[in-house]
Amino acid sequence: MAKVLVATEKPFAAAAVEQIAGIFKDAGYDCTFFEKYNGQDELISAVGDAEAMIIRSDKVTPEVIDAAKNLKIVVRAGAGFDNVNLEAATKNDVCVMNTPGQNSNAVAELVLGMMVFQARNHYNGTSGTELCCKKLGIHAYGNVGKLVAKIAKGFGMEVFAFDPFVENDIIEADGVTVCETVEGLYAMCDYISLHIPANEHTVKSIDYSLMSSMKPDAVLVNSARKEVINEDDMLKIFAEKPGFIYLSDIAPANKEKLTEKFPGRCFFTPKKMGAQTAEANINAGKAAANQIIGFLEKGDTTFKVN
Ligand code: 3PG
Repeated sequence: MAKVLVATEKPFAAAAVEQIAGIFKDAGYDCTFFEKYNGQDELISAVGDAEAMIIRSDKVTPEVIDAAKNLKIVVRAGAGFDNVNLEAATKNDVCVMNTPGQNSNAVAELVLGMMVFQARNHYNGTSGTELCCKKLGIHAYGNVGKLVAKIAKGFGMEVFAFDPFVENDIIEADGVTVCETVEGLYAMCDYISLHIPANEHTVKSIDYSLMSSMKPDAVLVNSARKEVINEDDMLKIFAEKPGFIYLSDIAPANKEKLTEKFPGRCFFTPKKMGAQTAEANINAGKAAANQIIGFLEKGDTTFKVN
């Protein structure tokens, strides 16, 4: 009986847990849910006999891989896999997968939710602004970016996108205008929504030069990863541009400085909330369970990332 560990420091919704458990029960697997654990040491002591793991933003470090002697596959139920040490996994012959697209709608809805919240002054009773007719720039047109564009068009926004990895035809087919340069996108839009992954090319890439080219009252929305922002540069931008706003799904490391010095100009979720919906948890959790079964039983490596 294959042993699966679902290690989620931030647990899936109850309905998702039930459905994941059902998939493994039907397949004759032994599935354990290890939720709300405290720190890496607890995770390391829980992975001992797991052959497969499902994780969310949980950190799969070389130490975790080392402790999981029977591990064959880790599926990140979600899009970003920057929390998994791919080098250690590959060295130990562990297959790593993600579940692209499964939680995208939840993230896209949160982006527009944060934008409305800010445009209406955090619902504090004062007069705000509308999203209609404003320009939205989407930085990276993947699964989430595409859905953000769709919802934003429903609000009557003018939508632009920059993504050198996506054919112009695909972007234009959605009624979105292609920007040939990232600088052009940042300079022309009222809102920028970030959808780039965190990797060696993108960490701290949203820097002084890019942010200083933005409009004086521009709003930067980050539902990707905090690591892509150069936080020191952002502090300077906040001081230089009194209208600049930052909304982020998860707080930056310099949260205290930003909120104390520039009150009302930023909003941060207390935990990463983009994918925190029952629907997203069910979609990503079920996909992860089925990918594990497909891999262990048929050698299916679709969505392998290492
Ligand atoms: C993702 O990369 O899919 C999102 O950041 C979701 O992360 P979470 O599963 O920790 O909510």
